[in-house]
Amino acid sequence: DMDPVKLMKQEVGRAAAAQVKSGSIVGLGTGSTTAFAIQFIGERIAAGEITDVVGIPTSFQASVLAKKHGIPLTTLDEAPRIDIAIDGADEVDPQQNLIKGGGAAHTREKVVDGLAARFVVVVDSSKLVDKLGSTFALPVEVLPMAVAPVTRALEALGGAPELRMGVNKDGPVITDQGNMVLDVTMPGIDNPAELEKTINNIPGVLENGLFVGVADEVLIGEVIDGKASVR
Ligand code: A5P
Repeated sequence: DMDPVKLMKQEVGRAAAAQVKSGSIVGLGTGSTTAFAIQFIGERIAAGEITDVVGIPTSFQASVLAKKHGIPLTTLDEAPRIDIAIDGADEVDPQQNLIKGGGAAHTREKVVDGLAARFVVVVDSSKLVDKLGSTFALPVEVLPMAVAPVTRALEALGGAPELRMGVNKDGPVITDQGNMVLDVTMPGIDNPAELEKTINNIPGVLENGLFVGVADEVLIGEVIDGKASVR
């Protein structure tokens, strides 16, 4: 028996995978919700429901899952465009702005999701917030040699940065690109568009997890009377 949150993730993943059309180049996001979308895209390809679909992975995890589920992969060097990207989020505000990077993949995600003609976000209802930063610290990918000055610069902006540490690994989390992540607790993000630019202007910052004006649709999984549905 699946727990309700997992069930919601599965149903939004299925709904997003249903949007993929034959002949499309698909940005494959990162995280436990997108993992279901990748699985269902693979199942649709295997069933012959859609053909000529190729994926562009946003992380090592996405490429492993795509291979496991039989989705051929390409790169941005080869692909002329991205038709649709499917990706999760850690927070979603009422304007469909996002915080991402809980899986430390936001830098590649922002490249791929931002290029997509259509970016579909898949979340469960627990991710909805009135204001970004209220439940989740903002992830910032940083060059290892610049962690100290970037930490001070983020503190000067009113944030409380913490170097993300590994689970089952001593020392910091290392991203797919060999960098580190600062999780920045913010007093409340009033202007996400401005903060996104301000943080990215700090030398040594690769990318932060604010996605402003990028999402085209947010699919939200919820459980009502023990039944999972998508809105
Ligand atoms: C990866 O860095 C993140 O941006 C993920 O997309 C995000 O953490 C969502 O993951 P879940 O679907 O597992 O919550």
